[in-house]
Amino acid sequence: MKLLFIFLYLIKLIYGTPTPIVLWHGMGDTCCLAVSLGTFKVFLESVIPGVYVNSLRIGNSSIEDLENGYFLNPNKQVQLVCNMLAEDPQLKDGFNAIGFSQGSQFLRAVVQRCGHKIPPVKNLISLGGQHQGVYGLPHCGVLMHPSCDYVRQLLNYAAYEHWVQTSLAQATYWHDPLDEESYQHKSIFLSEINNEVFINTTYIENLNKLEHFVLVKFNNDTIVQPRETEWFGFYEPGQSEKMLTLQESKLYLEDRLGLKKMEKDGKLVFISAEGDHLRFSDKWFIKNIITPYLK
Ligand SMILES: *[C@@H]1O[C@H](CO)[C@@H](O)[C@H](O)[C@H]1NC(C)=O
Ligand SMILES: *[C@@H]1O[C@H](CO)[C@@H](O)[C@H](O)[C@H]1NC(C)=O
Ligand SMILES: *[C@@H]1O[C@H](CO)[C@@H](O)[C@H](O)[C@H]1NC(C)=O
Repeated sequence: MKLLFIFLYLIKLIYGTPTPIVLWHGMGDTCCLAVSLGTFKVFLESVIPGVYVNSLRIGNSSIEDLENGYFLNPNKQVQLVCNMLAEDPQLKDGFNAIGFSQGSQFLRAVVQRCGHKIPPVKNLISLGGQHQGVYGLPHCGVLMHPSCDYVRQLLNYAAYEHWVQTSLAQATYWHDPLDEESYQHKSIFLSEINNEVFINTTYIENLNKLEHFVLVKFNNDTIVQPRETEWFGFYEPGQSEKMLTLQESKLYLEDRLGLKKMEKDGKLVFISAEGDHLRFSDKWFIKNIITPYLK
């Protein structure tokens, strides 16, 4: 034990303290159970000795954490996380953040809304995030919580009803390309953080403070529909077959979120991974994410 301490101390002395990492899990997942992000946290700690990892728990227990992923309004979740990050003394010099699935767009909202109130976020890594929303929910999360089927049915017919928006997290990023008008005005979360109707310049400034915004898309994703949303792509408005890339979208052409400038400055990074949703190997993650962005 004593030797291990000395060893860690020496590593710290030689390499400096590694930048802390914040994780936000996805739908049907939790911060800390071994079947969820618990194992991933241990993996990061073994590859980056001495790193502090804060895997965010939304709620007072793992069960609450799992349920809040479905039923707690993302605007409230984001506010909770802003407070948690501001109050964590180990993050005070800045940190990197990794979002899993919906945790990616939630972390982006944290950066945009609270970037000026929390320690600097250096690199934001989005793993299979739904930045232009989803139109479909073909499969459910890893834990197969019974809520998932209920969620799916509700979204298909009532996503933009106000009571659904406020009681179902997934409804707030439901994006119906056949009804852009409802999406823009009735989504209480995604359309707002995407500056669809009103441009909040604070969002642009805060996002642009990132060193890198890394967007990982899973080429064989069967959970996220359409998978292009992981790179800010989406259906062309008015139909649901033809896709537009970020660069062809209104968001980019009108530069409503400052992404054009970020791309020009080399801050926007597009990575694609073979395989299904969030399926990557340790080796892949070390090579593509840890070595370039987290070390
Ligand atoms: C945690 O517990 C407190 C006290 O019961 C409660 O007020 C609070 O809402 C809970 N937090 C979350 C995020 O559910
Ligand atoms: C823009 O976003 C900031 C940060 O969340 C917020 O404080 C401000 O009120 C917003 N501005 C408007 C006009 O909504
Ligand atoms: C992913 O899909 C492509 C075709 O779309 C296929 O060629 C490839 O083998 C698939 N990869 C995996 C890992 O399933």
